[in-house]
Amino acid sequence: MTEVQEVKHFLDLAEFDKDILTKILISGVQSKLGEADLSSTLTGKTVLMMFEKPSTRTRVSLETAVKQMGGQTVVLNPADSQLGRGESVADTARVLSRYVDAIALRTHDHDKILELAKFSSVPVVNLLSNWSHPTQLIADLITLYERFGDLSSLKVAWSGDGNNVLHSWMHAAAKFGFELQIACPEERMPDVAAVSWVREKGANVSITNDSTAAVAGADAVVTDVWISMGDEQQGGALQKMLQPYRVDENLMSKAKPTAIFMHCLPAKRGQEVTDAVLDGQQSAAWDEAENRLHANKGILAWCLS
Ligand code: CP
Ligand code: NVA
Repeated sequence: MTEVQEVKHFLDLAEFDKDILTKILISGVQSKLGEADLSSTLTGKTVLMMFEKPSTRTRVSLETAVKQMGGQTVVLNPADSQLGRGESVADTARVLSRYVDAIALRTHDHDKILELAKFSSVPVVNLLSNWSHPTQLIADLITLYERFGDLSSLKVAWSGDGNNVLHSWMHAAAKFGFELQIACPEERMPDVAAVSWVREKGANVSITNDSTAAVAGADAVVTDVWISMGDEQQGGALQKMLQPYRVDENLMSKAKPTAIFMHCLPAKRGQEVTDAVLDGQQSAAWDEAENRLHANKGILAWCLS
């Protein structure tokens, strides 16, 4: 009898056991340090990458990771494919899984990722949706691990928009047991589904409108752009609403003196973060960006091993 193997999708941290997430994270760290050799993990394998939204870090770090692991990539612009002319996501998934070994998608519509995963017989990787950004979070957790070691004792503060990246931070806090103090304007709170999920999990997550209170005593202060891809029409209102959440030197001074500043990038300098913070001694943003490469290796090794 043939054993049916479950397809190892990477859709959201919420779906994983802490043990698997730790394995992925450590595999990325070991590869970075040269303690694990993943250079032939993807030999003979092809990863398809599809982007409905722009990307610098995700695209280049994923393509580089695949190549450094011995595999190859195909990049497809969904607008130029039959998807753009109305072929269903399900049919596309059925066909693409007969060619490639994994499918990675960045999309405006998280349901497309779920649909792709439902009908794909090869792993699907979420490269950011309107709902979440889980590959980013593996890089962020690697960054925290490098700086602090144990994650469970940390206090992380978020000051800014209640967006997709924050949802993945909420998932991570629940899985790794660190404290997450969120400050968002009332009109831009994280999605109610994400809030109920952390409450159900009993995660140590608090939500306020007061950025100074959220940042008090934090080990890491995190923010993201005020206007995410897809939110451009509300741009003016968001800029006004999010002014009190800007991370500047004054806000950083409320965190621990040893605190780091984190940002998934790209940054809008002068909006959500000042030059002094992003370029300052406490900024971990560049390590965080580098860690996208190592995180991707850990994720791909897990999905395709
Ligand atoms: N952080 C991140 O996902 O960056 P890109 O949009 O450049 O991929
Ligand atoms: N929240 C941002 C993240 C970009 C990496 C966006 O969705 O545009």
